[in-house]
Amino acid sequence: MIPKIALAYSGGLDTSVALKWLQEKYDSEVVTVTLDVGQLEDFKEIEEKSRQSGGLKHYTIDGKKEFIEDYVFPSIRANGLYEGKYPLGTALARPLIAKKLVEVAEKEDCYAVAHGCTGKGNDQIRFDVTSLALNPDLKIIAPVREWNLSRDQEVEYAKKHKIPFSPKKSAYSIDQNLWGRSIESGPLEDPSFEPPEEAFEWVKPMSETPDTSGYLELEFTNGVPVSADGREMDGIELVNYVNQVVGSHGVGIVDHIEDRLVGIKSREVYEAPAAVAIIEAHRDLEKLVLTRNQLVFKGQVEPQWAWLVYSGLWIEPLRQDLEAFIDSTQTRVEGRVKLKLFKGSLRVVSRSSPYSLYDTGLATYTTSSTFDQKAAVGFSELWGLSSRVAYRVGVEKVERRES
Ligand code: ARG
Repeated sequence: MIPKIALAYSGGLDTSVALKWLQEKYDSEVVTVTLDVGQLEDFKEIEEKSRQSGGLKHYTIDGKKEFIEDYVFPSIRANGLYEGKYPLGTALARPLIAKKLVEVAEKEDCYAVAHGCTGKGNDQIRFDVTSLALNPDLKIIAPVREWNLSRDQEVEYAKKHKIPFSPKKSAYSIDQNLWGRSIESGPLEDPSFEPPEEAFEWVKPMSETPDTSGYLELEFTNGVPVSADGREMDGIELVNYVNQVVGSHGVGIVDHIEDRLVGIKSREVYEAPAAVAIIEAHRDLEKLVLTRNQLVFKGQVEPQWAWLVYSGLWIEPLRQDLEAFIDSTQTRVEGRVKLKLFKGSLRVVSRSSPYSLYDTGLATYTTSSTFDQKAAVGFSELWGLSSRVAYRVGVEKVERRES
């Protein structure tokens, strides 16, 4: 029997060339696996390409629901942003793709899993770490990393072996799913170069945005959005809807310098209208229902959570430990948040919750105030006590030295 390898397959040039190369170099049959995480590709066409490139069997797996509920929802609860900016779209999808790939490999009796990641990025680490944890007996093969071919060499190889490929559609390397579109390389490699409008598909250029402002109202239960503009929706529909509404107002582009796991600084551009808007709204609602102490502590936990996800350690037990704390705070993150959108800007203009800690009686400056202002005198006396003592001692020292 010919040994088999399961390959994570996008239908692009890298993975199509990898398919053939795996057959030749490893004398193996290749089972291809494409996970639908909302990347809006023609999955029939991908399946056909796999067949034409010599694939033994192809799997298209719908992972959208699992992706939203088990990966995106925890990220919303954690306000997941790597280095304060990147909503982790690509990073969140990788462990799920690896999991499905391993499942197919086991079902098909494969001895190895393969992916098309390069040796310079984060994705290889995410695939490797997750697959190895789920099944240490599976060998991991990364043809691009091992083979080290340039794009021109790949094109030549594809022509020689009659591998179907579409001429490069864009100047960029794109990875997309429901939670965002990651745009890399090409002219964007120069961090001083402004991304041209043609790089974007989800966020409208300013010239095409409406001249009047729009609103988006999100309702949260248990820290995740359950309805948008008064309509209850499942996670997939809601994220699609928010992407469309927010993107139509020119909101949702993230452009930053990112520290990759392998030590490289890279310029990364993302379109993530839903992620940007939902996290902003979620964060705002948390400020209404959580205490200052909870917010401060959660603010320390969040970057740790984002780091584990970014760095490929989805399987790390610490993530679950952090989520135990995060989830305990989220039981009260319930209510409505209204966002105002206009020409590339987004602002929370209204929030309300049955668990609100906001007490108008305390906050008001009118005569109805229930706050006892006299109590503040003793408070400030004691609040500044230790600092005042230290300040006085320091001032006296300086004065003595000067005289
Ligand atoms: N820098 C992002 C990350 O590491 C995005 C990677 C995008 N990958 C791609 N093939 N374009 O998660």
